Amino acid sequence: MTPDLFEQGTERLATHQARKVTEVTSGDRSAGYGRVHEPGSLDLTHGRILYLEDVHVSFDGFKAINGLSLDIAPGELRCIIGPNGAGKTTMMDIITGKTKPDSGQVFFGSTIDLLRHNEPEIAQLGIGRKFQKPTVFEHLSVFDNLELALKTHKGVAASMFFKLNGTQRDSLSEVLHTIHLEGSVTRQAGNLSHGQKQWLEIGMLLMQDPKLLLLDEPVAGMTDFETERTAELFLTLKGKHSLMVVEHDMSFINTISDIVTVLCDGSVLAQGTLAQVQADERVIEVYLGR
Ligand SMILES: Nc1ncnc2c1ncn2[C@@H]1O[C@H](COP(=O)(O)OP(=O)(O)OP(=O)(O)O)[C@@H](O)[C@H]1O
Ligand SMILES: [Mg+2]
Repeated sequence: MTPDLFEQGTERLATHQARKVTEVTSGDRSAGYGRVHEPGSLDLTHGRILYLEDVHVSFDGFKAINGLSLDIAPGELRCIIGPNGAGKTTMMDIITGKTKPDSGQVFFGSTIDLLRHNEPEIAQLGIGRKFQKPTVFEHLSVFDNLELALKTHKGVAASMFFKLNGTQRDSLSEVLHTIHLEGSVTRQAGNLSHGQKQWLEIGMLLMQDPKLLLLDEPVAGMTDFETERTAELFLTLKGKHSLMVVEHDMSFINTISDIVTVLCDGSVLAQGTLAQVQADERVIEVYLGR
């Protein structure tokens, strides 16, 4: 993302934040189950942080998402695999509000209807997304990138007077440790390796303390060493955050996965442990090969 786009994004965010405050303080009776929950809190009573039901999206008549139903438990690290064009990225576009489905339900917790929110609002609700290409600010230091991520999350007005408090400094140090960049605080982001840039971007998301993190092909282009460290990183994030990880790298999936969901032609083809889905004839046919 360029700084210009970033600024445009923060402006949109500020506008929508004003709307969101009104919504939340009016009792936040979100659609769906008619339940009232505390402002800003996520209702996890049904044991699901994310819930998609019978979602459909067509692009010029082509059914990219076709009856997709899926749910993720709080703290879970869910891996998503599937052939090119299966709809994995489009699914993330739907969850984050970038693409609106033609029909279906998408809930965050039991009560937040994500289809009633736009992209900046969904980020504010606690869903962070990492695209494949690293989008750090190359001319800024590692520290400045992380600080900026926190500022941006607070909105434009707050960021003008922003100064890190003690707790925020502590969380910045913790994030630096988690992403293995403690020794590179003052380095310019542009001088980091590809893998380090990816970690920095994950760190920028972590500064916003997301409840759910969506990661699209996070280890593509990484060295084996960087891939291993990324696997360790995701395993440390599991439990504290919920994660949805799309990857084609099967050895990486093998290291991090509990439940693997296989998408094909816009819906779930199979789900289970990696061993289970790898033994599934339909998955072998469309994706893994013989
Ligand atoms: N905005 C769009 N307009 C038209 N077609 C689209 C659009 N976005 C996605 N598609 C199509 O929808 C299908 C699903 O694409 P998507 O990018 O979600 O697949 P994917 O599973 O992420 O694949 P890959 O593993 O290659 O990243 C593809 O056929 C793609 O061309
Ligand atoms: Mg994709």
